Formats: sequence, structure tokens, C-alpha cells
Amino acid sequence: MLHDMLDVIDFIHTNRDRYVSELKEYLAIPSISALPEHEPDVRRCAEWTAGEMRRIGLENVRLTDTPGNPIVYGDWLNAPGAPTILFYGHYDVQPVDPVELWESPPFEATIRDGEMYARGAADDKGQVFMHLKAIEAHLAKAGRLPVNIKLIVEGEEEVGSVNLDNFVRDRRSALGADVVVISDSAMFDRGVPSICYSLRGLVYFQIDLRGTSSDLHSGVFGGAVANPALVLAQILAQMKDRGGRVKIPGFYDAVRPLSDEERAAWKKLPFNEKKYRKDLGAPRLFGESGYTTLERVWGRPSFDVNGLISGFTGDGAKTVIPAVASAKVSMRLVPDQDPDTIARLFEDYVRRIAPKTVTVTVTRMHGGHPWITEYDNPYVQAAARAIEQGFGKTPVFCREGGSIPVVWTFQKELGVPAVLFGVGLPDENAHAPNERLDLGNFHSGIVASAILYGEIAGVPSAQPHR
Ligand code: BES
Ligand code: MN
Ligand code: MN
Repeated sequence: MLHDMLDVIDFIHTNRDRYVSELKEYLAIPSISALPEHEPDVRRCAEWTAGEMRRIGLENVRLTDTPGNPIVYGDWLNAPGAPTILFYGHYDVQPVDPVELWESPPFEATIRDGEMYARGAADDKGQVFMHLKAIEAHLAKAGRLPVNIKLIVEGEEEVGSVNLDNFVRDRRSALGADVVVISDSAMFDRGVPSICYSLRGLVYFQIDLRGTSSDLHSGVFGGAVANPALVLAQILAQMKDRGGRVKIPGFYDAVRPLSDEERAAWKKLPFNEKKYRKDLGAPRLFGESGYTTLERVWGRPSFDVNGLISGFTGDGAKTVIPAVASAKVSMRLVPDQDPDTIARLFEDYVRRIAPKTVTVTVTRMHGGHPWITEYDNPYVQAAARAIEQGFGKTPVFCREGGSIPVVWTFQKELGVPAVLFGVGLPDENAHAPNERLDLGNFHSGIVASAILYGEIAGVPSAQPHR
């Protein structure tokens, strides 16, 4: 290991407590991108991110305004001849509801049993911060980085990254790099670090049904008109068969079958299905027949109802036929399904199965393409070495069921390989109450990130980017 690197790691160990108190400050900003009333907080969080980037010594730090939330950019390009990393992360977070289920307030980061509890702790502020601290350590101890780095930290990931694609497309040459680095996913399990080589995509819809112009007395009119809540249930019930297969015609046409090698590799992972079921509190697991749980969430598409609204939902009973019923539904996609194609198949199917007794409106919301990469490249090998040094374990290779829409865009627009190395844990409640981040993993992640830059520096750069 380089002499400089030992100093850098030493610096990281010495500053452990400071990192924790600084991260608390970052987590105190309620940067919820889904809720318009938090727009000022979202901007404040972008500014906080930019301020921290400047403070640690990054250059050309700026906010770019978009029709939505600002994108934060910063770089350090003073390592001529060395490879260039394009780092991506997001400073926006998910809403906190149901807030009464949080054991400590979501924006007052609290440490219990070595875990930092707060919204955004794992997804993704804690993991963005980990890289900022790794960069800081290099600049503070060595006065330089072993690589060039360009950072994009956006504020709309949790709402589908709608403005980021244009940002990337408009700056294709300015964002040129040798490798994309992202920490916005989980490790396979506690003590089992991993590198992720595939993400699912997403299409999201709202379905609105109207039966009559007003709610009706269910005694006076019951039996004379269709009930939109029931029609909605009937439509939704036709989305999956009893074997867990999605019934939308053509839905599976583009699905890339899992290879025998891949299925065999996943069978070797330390996955405990019984514990998985128990931790979820599910009486039984359910999914597409013929596939294991890991195959279902990593390698197969799915259909889900995210929310349902109709009629009387208060305490007690009210005899009413609701005028309207709505559902939010989404489909997770795998390679090589195309979101636009799937969206069209879904709309056609809903229109075909909906009865004439109601009017149906189908509105498409955000989404993203699935992503998969060949992972036998020198950057992934560099990451594997860095993780091994930071965590004391060689990483396993995983797919993930979640989505990060811009990863596909980077691949398509920049043609650059991506390394996804996340330090969250699958049970750290991302998007749920009591989200948390293991501080041991946070700290090891800073060390691993600092080493990663050194390891990437040793990979011959394909082309100059400046
Ligand atoms: N960090 C997650 C995605 C993720 C989760 C990747 C777990 C790998 C493992 C990200 O912040 C996220 O939640 N993405 C959304 C994207 C959507 C809003 C387009 C998702 O997956 O629902
Ligand atoms: Mn995330
Ligand atoms: Mn998320």
C-alpha cells in the first residue's frame, strides 16, 4: 500500500467521531423530494452538500437549477494521466409517514446500538457523505487525490430523476469519465459486502375509475349501477394469476432468461429463506412459481399495488356507493424489458378488461430502465480489492430489486462502466420508519472508498477527459 494511503486511513480513523456529528447535521435537513412543501429544505440540502464539497477542497462546485430540484456538481481534476471517476448519489429522501412509528424523530439523528437512526441515513445521504469524507481525507493528508473525480449529487432520485437525464445528455463530453461509482444500495447481508451488477427498472401508474357523478345511497341505488371500488378490485385481480405470473399480454416477451451459471451462483450465496420470511413477518412467502426468492426479486419482473383509495374509510359504517376509486400500481422491470413498451402493454390491457360501466383514466408516472453490466472489468476488480481491505471480506456479486434510473442513462449516454458498492443493510428500513445506518459499515465504507480511489488510480486510463 502507498505510504500516502496509510496516512489517509490513519486520518480516517482519527476523525471517526467528527464524521458522525457532521453526518447528523446533514441528516437534520428534511429534503423530501416528493412533498412540495419541503422545496425550501430540498434547496437548503443542495446548498449544504455544495458547501461541504467546497470545504473539503473540491473545485468548480455549483448548483444547477432544473424545473425540479437543483443538481449539485463538483470536481477535482488535477491528476493528469490518471483515470477519472464520475461519482453519483442523491441528497433527497423519502417521506417519513407513518411518522408515529418512528422511535426517534426522523430528522434528529439518534444513535442506538451502533446504528444511526434518521431518514436518509442509508438512502442515500450517509453513503454520499462517506465518499465526501474519503475525498476529504486524501486532500487533507496527501494534498491531492490519486484520481480525477467529478461528482453529481441530485435531489430527485426518489421521484424518478426526471430532470437528471437532460443534465447528463446536455453535458455528455463534460461528464466523460472512465468509471461511474455509486453507493446507493445495500450489502448482501451484515458482514457480507457486495458489488451490485444489475438493477430493476420501473413503470408506475395511477388508475382512476369513475362510476357516477356523485357518491350514492347504497340502499336507494345499490344494484342499479356498477361499484367502481369493486370494478377496480376486479381489474387488479386480473393482473396476476395464482402462480404469481403477471397476466398482461406480452409482459414477459423481452425478459432475458436467467442463465444456469447465474442461478447456480445465487444458490451459493448465504441466503436464509426462513429468517428472511420471519424478519418480514410474512405468514408465507409468495412469488412467481418456478423461481427462488432471490431469483424473483433480482431477476424477474413484478407487478404491485402501491396504494388504493375509495369510498368510506373512517370508523364505523356508512352505506354508500363511492363515485370514484383509484389505485397506484407499479411494475419492476428486468433486462431487456423497455419501460415504454411495458407501459403501452399495460394501458392496452387495462382498457381491454375494464367494463363499460365505469370511465377509466390511466396516468403514467415516473420510472426508469433496468440495468445490467458485465462485471469482469478492472474497475470492478479494483472495487473488490478496496472492499476487501476496508471490510476484511471479499465481496459477493449481487443483483438488486430496486431501481436507480440514471445508471442506465450513464451507460447509454456516456458508455462508461459502473461500480455499485453499497454499505447499507437489507434490514435498515430504507423508505420505512426507523431507517438507519450501521456506523461500523459507514466507517469501513469511508476507508474502502478512500482505498478504492487508489486502486482505480492503478487501472490504466482509456482516454483523456479534460
Ligand atoms: N437506493 C434506492 C434504490 C435501491 C434500493 C437500489 C435497494 C438497490 C437496492 C433508491 O433511492 C430508490 O429508492 N429508488 C427508487 C426509484 C424510483 C423512485 C424510480 C425505487 O427503487 O423505488
Ligand atoms: Mn437511494
Ligand atoms: Mn430510495
